[in-house]
Amino acid sequence: MVGDRDGGQLADEVEDVGDRGAHARRLGVAADAVAVTRAGPVDAALTDLADLLARSSSESRASRFLTGTSRTPGPRFVRRLLDVPGGGALLARVGGEAVGHAMWAPVPGRETDEGPAVEVALLVRDDHHRRGVGARLLDELGAWLLEVGVLRVRVTTLASNAGVLALVRRDAPDASIVRDGPELTFTLDLHRVVARRSH
Ligand SMILES: CC(C)(COP(=O)(O)OP(=O)(O)OC[C@H]1O[C@@H](n2cnc3c(N)ncnc32)[C@H](O)[C@@H]1OP(=O)(O)O)[C@@H](O)C(=O)NCCC(=O)NCCS
Repeated sequence: MVGDRDGGQLADEVEDVGDRGAHARRLGVAADAVAVTRAGPVDAALTDLADLLARSSSESRASRFLTGTSRTPGPRFVRRLLDVPGGGALLARVGGEAVGHAMWAPVPGRETDEGPAVEVALLVRDDHHRRGVGARLLDELGAWLLEVGVLRVRVTTLASNAGVLALVRRDAPDASIVRDGPELTFTLDLHRVVARRSH
C-alpha cells in the first residue's frame, strides 16, 4: 500500500538522519549545525545568553570570567556581554538554543603603531564542548576583527585552561605570552594567523 511504503521511507529517513547525527557527534563535527550571528542587546539574545549562562557549569563560568559568577546573574551583567562599547558579541546557536558566546572589546590605552588591540573572551556550553564551537566562534571573531581593521588580539586565561591553550596553539603558536600568577595573557597577530592558514 502507498501509505505503508511512505511510512517505511519516512522511518528509513528518520533512522538515517539519526545515524548521521550520532556519527557526526562521534567525529566531533556537529559544528556544521552551528549558526553564528553577531548579537546585540535585544530581548531574544538577552534571554538566550541568560540561558547559556544558567546551563554552563560553575567551572566553565569561573574559567570564562576568572572569578565566581552566579548561574543567574542580573540583567545588567548579561546586557554588558552583548552591549559592548567599541566592540561586539557573537552568539552560536544549535537548534535555536545558544550554546556559545564570544565578545571582543578594546583594550584601553593599547593603541600602538600596529593599531588598536582588543581583548576577546568566549564561553561554550559544557554539553557542546569539543565539537568545534569554540574554534568556529574564534574564526568568526577573527573575520570580524579583520573587517574593522583590528590586528592585535589579546586573550587572558588560566594557565590550566587546556581548551584555550589548544585554540591558541592551533592558530597562533607564536603568540606572545605574559604570565601573571595563575593567568596567562596571549597576544596574537591576526595577519600571522591568516598567513599560517593560507599555507
Ligand atoms: C575553552 C572553550 C571555549 C573551548 O571551546 P570548545 O568548543 O570546547 O573548543 P573546540 O571544540 O572548538 O576545540 C578547539 C581545540 O581545542 C581542543 N580542546 C578543547 N577543549 C579542550 C580540553 N579541555 N583539553 C584539551 N584540548 C581541548 C580541541 O581538541 C580542539 O583542538 P584541535 O583544533 O587541535 O582539534 C570551552 O572549553 C569553554 O567554554 N570553556 C569554559 C570557558 C572558558 O574557559 N573560556 C575561555 C576564557 S577566554
